[in-house]
Amino acid sequence: MHNMKLSPPDIVRMKGNEKITMLTAYDAAFGRMLESAGVDVLLVGDSLGMVVLGYESTVPVTMDEMIHHASAVRRGAPNTLLIGDMPFLSYQISPADAILNAGRFFKEAGCDAVKLEGGLEVCGVTRAIVDAGMPVVGHIGLTPQTAGKLGGLKVQGKDAESARRLLVEAKGLEEAGAFCLVLECIPDGVAKHITEAIAIPTIGIGGGVHCDGQVLVTHDLLGMFEKFIPSFVKQYTTLAPDIKNAVADFGKDVKDGLYPDEAHSFSMKLDPQEIFKE
Ligand code: KIV
Repeated sequence: MHNMKLSPPDIVRMKGNEKITMLTAYDAAFGRMLESAGVDVLLVGDSLGMVVLGYESTVPVTMDEMIHHASAVRRGAPNTLLIGDMPFLSYQISPADAILNAGRFFKEAGCDAVKLEGGLEVCGVTRAIVDAGMPVVGHIGLTPQTAGKLGGLKVQGKDAESARRLLVEAKGLEEAGAFCLVLECIPDGVAKHITEAIAIPTIGIGGGVHCDGQVLVTHDLLGMFEKFIPSFVKQYTTLAPDIKNAVADFGKDVKDGLYPDEAHSFSMKLDPQEIFKE
């Protein structure tokens, strides 16, 4: 656990020395809890769309929604390295557009870095954002924003050609100036090879134990998102049933007149009958 806020160069220095922990956060309450639990890096992922906003995919998420939630996380977690995830079409149109959108995460939400999905096709825009002074995290393998093109939410890099392409993409993104790379849903052997072949840290999500760090969607880790549980997710608790039971107990107590009881009500010394007598 670190007492000080880590910077992108600190994260690079952790490679080979200490595993990196990254978790998603979408609001101030979780930001506060995750910061006090000592998570190294917080990611305001565009998984926001499915986990919190109820969309079917990450595609509809807008820049304004990301900024709104990233600002809230920053208020809850002022001392943790915070990454804003660039939503679909916020960086594909032109480098100028990408720089302006990345800049919003820094200027309006107080983020320390941005993340964007893609391989060689985003190396140019990665370089442009880095050259404008903003640290970038890459994201290859399963890239949910363009999952349709990949044939769905599937493990990537399972054959020799696509495994080799992932390595080329990882090296390209490192060369373009990314300081860190998320590897999503790729075989652990491929993730190991990539991790050893580049000098920047790899952060796995379904990428096996050899990555330099691990990221999970916090609601998955806590068992709060029941719609779909990817097989690589380890649920450290299952809060959804606990929440539903607690809410059902509250409802029953209210209906039965058992809540609020005396311990949860305010009394006073004066006799209300005296106060309100006509
Ligand atoms: O959107 C997201 O939460 C991500 C992850 C890496 C989990 O991109």
